[in-house]
Amino acid sequence: MSDNGKTTVRMTIDGRSIDAPVGATILEVARANGIDIPSLCYHPGVEAFGACRLCVVEITKPNWEGWKKLVTSCLYPVEEELIVSTRSEEVIENRRVVLDLQLARVPDSDVIRQMAAKYGIHDTSYEKRKDADTCIMCTICVRVCEAIGANAIATLSRGPEKYVDVPNIDACIGCGACALSCPTDAIPMTEENGVRHIWDKDFELVRCEVSGEPIGTPEQIKHFAEKSGLPESYFTKSDRQRKKETAADLARVMLG
Ligand code: SF4
Ligand code: FES
Repeated sequence: MSDNGKTTVRMTIDGRSIDAPVGATILEVARANGIDIPSLCYHPGVEAFGACRLCVVEITKPNWEGWKKLVTSCLYPVEEELIVSTRSEEVIENRRVVLDLQLARVPDSDVIRQMAAKYGIHDTSYEKRKDADTCIMCTICVRVCEAIGANAIATLSRGPEKYVDVPNIDACIGCGACALSCPTDAIPMTEENGVRHIWDKDFELVRCEVSGEPIGTPEQIKHFAEKSGLPESYFTKSDRQRKKETAADLARVMLG
């Protein structure tokens, strides 16, 4: 709620008048209204970081006398009378520069190649990184791991040498959330014969006690049970199975 007690603000995005919830960011409101703003380091499950600058948009207000500025939409909160352009010339040029630079960083990333191609960039104008992996240093994996409470992943070194790794492999619970949330598939994870392999470590896979489908690692189940206060048995069933049981419980209650 804003200082004056209002729960929404009236703003404009690409000419559309929108009532946006107070406290939301421009990116959240745009996406909730079907307006596309590309992003690389934004993940809805973790705090925004503002690192990639791909989500930049142009803003102004009626009393700014024509003055405009570029802001990162994943961090900038909506405001009354804000006028946002997600497709101005400056915004498009900013995206082109960001993607050109990212293409130099990860020339072999299909995701970045496809995004850059949408803006007419088929080869980078910068020097390509040698022996490059596909990590764009968005740090989503680090923030997701932190949010889960495992704190196994960290950024190491500085400047252009910076990279992500698992300095304390014992802290890794093998949940795979980092690999699943990585926008460029830079964290290899395989599952074979009941074993998950990630960060150069093997984790046994526990199977759902009802359906038999693999549901996670023992370390992951123990960790989630400790964090949530729920019994480990709650995590030894697949999501699908739990939903089925909840639906059956509900039906029993509703039908008496
Ligand atoms: S490994 Fe993936 S999620 Fe982690 S920083 Fe690199 S690109 Fe981002
Ligand atoms: S998504 Fe906003 S700065 Fe990366």
